[in-house]
Amino acid sequence: MNIVLIGFRGTGKSTVGKLLANRLERDYIDSDEYIENSTKKAIKHIFEEDGEEGFRKIEADVIAELSRMDNKIVAVGGGAILREDNVRNLKDNGFLILLEATPEIIHNRITQDEKTTQQRPSLTDKKPLDEIKHLLEQREHHYKNAADYTINTSYVACEDIVNEIITTIKKQLN
Ligand code: S3P
Repeated sequence: MNIVLIGFRGTGKSTVGKLLANRLERDYIDSDEYIENSTKKAIKHIFEEDGEEGFRKIEADVIAELSRMDNKIVAVGGGAILREDNVRNLKDNGFLILLEATPEIIHNRITQDEKTTQQRPSLTDKKPLDEIKHLLEQREHHYKNAADYTINTSYVACEDIVNEIITTIKKQLN
């Protein structure tokens, strides 16, 4: 079974995913990095050339491929759960953990994260914080419906989040 981290940009998927993979001695795969490696293009350029729709098609193919793997720690891009087929594929062999955070914390983390320039093109014509609030509201039910377990990462240390995930997974497997 894969452990799949879902949630909006800046909720801590990559940081937590890498730590979790280390602790469990499993491989860590980030769907955005996987897309960039297989297309040899930055996410930003895929959006520029093929639009969001083109990106979502590539993302769906990659998610189908990752879902056929086993025992991986997978972090998927914040919009991956918008497509039902992605959620179905991920759930087929995965336990989905939703990471959440407040819009303000997401905004701070995204602004400080160097991967934002290449991997996080604007998704609306709104100002950054307004875009975050708007999309969180629009996506909330997708995230909630997809999640097997939810953790708010706003004020929790990464190590504690990892411990909580490990405890949850152990219960799940018993
Ligand atoms: C997106 C989130 C990004 C990346 C792309 C689209 C989104 O991934 O897949 O820019 O729609 O929320 P992260 O959640 O890893 O930043």
